[in-house]
Amino acid sequence: MAILPVVTYDDPVLRKPADTVQQDHPGLEEFIDDLFDTMYEANGVGLAAPQVGVSLKLFVVDADAITEDEEEESLGPGVFINPEIEVLEGEKWDAEEGCLSIPDVREKVSRPDTIRIRYQDRDFQDREEVHSGWYARVLQHEYDHLRGVLFIDYLGAFRKRLIRKKLEEIRAGRVEAAYTLAPKGTGTDEEA
Ligand code: NI
Repeated sequence: MAILPVVTYDDPVLRKPADTVQQDHPGLEEFIDDLFDTMYEANGVGLAAPQVGVSLKLFVVDADAITEDEEEESLGPGVFINPEIEVLEGEKWDAEEGCLSIPDVREKVSRPDTIRIRYQDRDFQDREEVHSGWYARVLQHEYDHLRGVLFIDYLGAFRKRLIRKKLEEIRAGRVEAAYTLAPKGTGTDEEA
C-alpha cells in the first residue's frame, strides 16, 4: 500500500501507447492496490497506470461519487486490464471533465454515450460489458490515457488558447494539488 506520485500532462509517458499487461507481471497485485490508494487519496474517479509513470494498459475506476449524483447504478471499484473499447452509440453529449494529471483545469468534452468494453479483470478473467452515461464517460477518459490521449486534446482552438497559461504553469511545476505530484525532471516510465 502506497500513495504514488502523479505525473503531469507534459510527461512523455502520457503521450505513448501503453504496453500490454502480462498476468505474471511482477508486483501487479500491489501496484493495483497502490493505484486505488492514490486515486482515493486524490478524490479521483479513475486513475490510469501511465499517470503514475508506468506504461501499462491498466486503469482503476470508482465513479460512485459521480454516478450517485446522476442517479446511475452504483458499480463500485473496477480494475480494467488490457481494455478495448468499441463505441456503440455515436450520439455525443458534453460534460465537464478534469484529470489528476492536469490540476485545476476543467473543460467540457463531448463523448459518445454508450460503449462496449472488453477487458480482463483483476483475476485475468475475460469480460465484456456495455455501459452508458457517466460511467461510460469515465471509462473513455481512462482508456484514452492508455493510448496517449488527454481530454484537453478534444478542445477547440479557442478553449486550448484559454488554458495555455495554466498548462505552462503546470509544465513549470508551479502548481499546487491536494495530492502528490511527481517532481519535475525525475525519471518516469519505470516498471511497476
Ligand atoms: Ni485523466
